[in-house]
Amino acid sequence: MNNTDVDIYDIKTLENGNKLVGEIEFPPRKMWVKTYGCQMNYHDTERMVSHLQPLNFSLTDNREEADFMIFNTCAIRDLANQKFYSHLGGSKHDKAAREVKIAAAGCIAQTESKELLKKYKQLDFAFGTDVIDNIGEMVYRAYAGDTKFSVTSWDKSANYSIETKRTAGTPQAFINIIKGCDKFCSYCIVPFTRGREKSRSVSEVVNDVARLVKHDGVQEITLLGQNVNSYGKKNGESLAELIMELENINGLEIIRYTTSHPYDISDELIAVHGTSEKLSNHLHLPVQSGSNTVLQRMLREYSVEHYMERLDKIRQANPDIIISTDIIAGFPNETEEEHRDTLELLKVAKYDFIYSYNYSSRKGTKSAKMDDILTKDIRSRRLQEIQKLQLELQVESRALMVGNTYRVLVEGFGTMKGIKKWKGRSDCFRIIHFVPEAGQEDMDYTWHWVDLKVTSTTALSCQGDVVNVLGKRLTPENEL
Ligand code: SAH
Ligand code: SF4
Ligand code: F3S
Repeated sequence: MNNTDVDIYDIKTLENGNKLVGEIEFPPRKMWVKTYGCQMNYHDTERMVSHLQPLNFSLTDNREEADFMIFNTCAIRDLANQKFYSHLGGSKHDKAAREVKIAAAGCIAQTESKELLKKYKQLDFAFGTDVIDNIGEMVYRAYAGDTKFSVTSWDKSANYSIETKRTAGTPQAFINIIKGCDKFCSYCIVPFTRGREKSRSVSEVVNDVARLVKHDGVQEITLLGQNVNSYGKKNGESLAELIMELENINGLEIIRYTTSHPYDISDELIAVHGTSEKLSNHLHLPVQSGSNTVLQRMLREYSVEHYMERLDKIRQANPDIIISTDIIAGFPNETEEEHRDTLELLKVAKYDFIYSYNYSSRKGTKSAKMDDILTKDIRSRRLQEIQKLQLELQVESRALMVGNTYRVLVEGFGTMKGIKKWKGRSDCFRIIHFVPEAGQEDMDYTWHWVDLKVTSTTALSCQGDVVNVLGKRLTPENEL
């Protein structure tokens, strides 16, 4: 069918509250989204929701009442794929029980949309990672009666220009600054699921963030990309330049960015870690392996020596900085010695925390074609050794926090062993739990800035006492 005549943004509100687009009425409907994977995917979900709100969709956590279900998928490791296939398989019961439309989005849909549509009868349509902003048109098509279609095209325009969309209403915002990845590490599927690198301009991002700070109550931002250190390269701009410009926005308190590639982390950016007042005291710098021969097979472009030189320089520029990393255990044909090099690296680099995974072969990547002699048992044992050692190291590094005071932005509370405990994240990304001050048991600390003095720590948790409650804004409203 041909819907090219319909302007999806020409939406009329009818007297009964329904929205009219072209000849189709959209009554109030509930949408449910299951998101897998990285922060980029979570932010894509936020964009989808914000685009569908004008078409009368509102978000629900209750899958059973959903009129429209989206699975926003991740393809990074086989486990992520398997989880999705099993959840999608289960959605045939939803389809049988009521009138519901079901879509698959994200990284698996980008490369497997046709197979998914064929295999899962309940799936109405599938769309990829570069057409998120066209979701309104796709939903229109689906409600116009079109079914079993897929949209996985790449945006051909030279520029990457968007406006950040938000639905959460919190002081924290995710800002896409670069999309895609040109690195093609030998094990990684992302360049295939997210396409080539394209950056937004510094001026566009600065205006976007200034708007969110002034009109949307945002105080903390996370700049997002698969390799933010490549940001701006194709336009003659840089991440260091962007951060220095963002620094000038009154009312913006914390700037974070993720994820970094060690090869591209420039001297200029390291210097900004020393001078910036707002840049977080935390850096996630994925190393993947402590062995040079494995790093070569991974096509990571750097050596352990180069990585450690960058790390030392960052720590000199900002002695308070906290570093975390990603490790892959059991890359194809990794020897026992190569594995031990990774354990040694952990001891020297002293990470605050690590994300570690067993290597997972991804179809289409270079490492998937390597003959691999490692068994599942060897991989699992190595992963366990990595995780055990890191936890021991973490006990030591976290113990050093005791007695220090950290400023946190409180995100919410939970109940532990019957005691209500609030939690907030420090500038350096550590979660600290606290109980209210005496007499303040009913106080709602949500999104307050609070100074906490750390009283005890374990490898994975940290407790503090309230020293000072600073309210919901650090910069007064009239200074924005
Ligand atoms: N762009 C980031 C990482 C993106 S993916 C970077 O370059 O560091 C997040 C993490 O998943 C990676 O750092 C890596 O540790 C892990 N990962 C990626 N592909 C993987 C695979 N095939 N098997 C196991 N882990 C993988
Ligand atoms: Fe994957 Fe490497 Fe790109 Fe990171 S830099 S997304 S690991 S290809
Ligand atoms: Fe997964 Fe795609 Fe992110 S593969 S990690 S959701 S970029």
